[in-house]
Amino acid sequence: MTDTVTAFAPATVGNVGVGFDILGHTVEAIGDRVRITRSAMPGVRILSITGTTETLPLEAEKNTAGRALLAMVESLNLSFGMDVEIHKGIPLGSGLGGSAASAVAAVVAGNALLDAPLTKLELLKFAMEGEAVASGSVHVDNIAPSLFGGLVLTVGIDHPRTKQIPVPEAVRCVLVHPHMFLSTREARRILSGTVSLSDVVWQCANLAGFISGCYTNDLAMLRDAFTDVVIEPQRQALIPGFAAVQKAAMDLGAIGCSISGAGPTIFAWCEQSSAQSICDAMVAAFKAHGLQSDHWISVIGNDGARVIA
Ligand code: HSE
Repeated sequence: MTDTVTAFAPATVGNVGVGFDILGHTVEAIGDRVRITRSAMPGVRILSITGTTETLPLEAEKNTAGRALLAMVESLNLSFGMDVEIHKGIPLGSGLGGSAASAVAAVVAGNALLDAPLTKLELLKFAMEGEAVASGSVHVDNIAPSLFGGLVLTVGIDHPRTKQIPVPEAVRCVLVHPHMFLSTREARRILSGTVSLSDVVWQCANLAGFISGCYTNDLAMLRDAFTDVVIEPQRQALIPGFAAVQKAAMDLGAIGCSISGAGPTIFAWCEQSSAQSICDAMVAAFKAHGLQSDHWISVIGNDGARVIA
């Protein structure tokens, strides 16, 4: 019987522009790691948090990984407890799905300690409870891709169904993370609760076009469908230089460019040949607005969270 397990869960781009709260994809370059040791003492204890941030709550109830594991322990009525060590690779408040990745890595590690491991779909619900601690609401666009891998669409909350959508092979994702913190709660709080009928129609068409473009390898359709007419216009003021960074990417031939999750990271889908120049231009545009940034160019692989030790 294994007593200690470590799992890795990748960062994610939530929304992917047109799929607010329901569509997201993995970024293999970075992620969080969670190590769990089985304990004779029931309950969930967070022993340490290291990495990009050490200021997250150690109380299990208030921590995304801790809350997800509590949901698992309570639901399964486990007789043993879990001692948890979290290593954050994803910057806090970056829009790269850090809270989701910790919750996902936790449930994947916890699952490996069970006598009868659960399916990923069953783990999804525990991880959703963890994510809700951080953002104040249940949404799956970071949790589902981090868990399953690739570009993932989720339909439903109480009985979620997930679908991995194929991504055209030519596509690369450029991510530029300006050095600033943006609270997901705040970026959700500012959103209007109502949307005009014409914007609903436009956004539905773009989401449908985006998904069909992925299935049919149609980059021209993806380009035309990439515009988020609902969320991006409301959030872009939270990110200094957003319009300039987006324009820099689009002028160099990006397929599309928008806010990653709740921001401030901005992502662009593009073809491999233009990825480096688009990345350089986005970094320069942020710099012109006084912001240094980290950046990554990533394939959108199909690997989700997994046990690594
Ligand atoms: N879909 C969420 C949002 C992702 O945009 O608020 C943030 O984690």
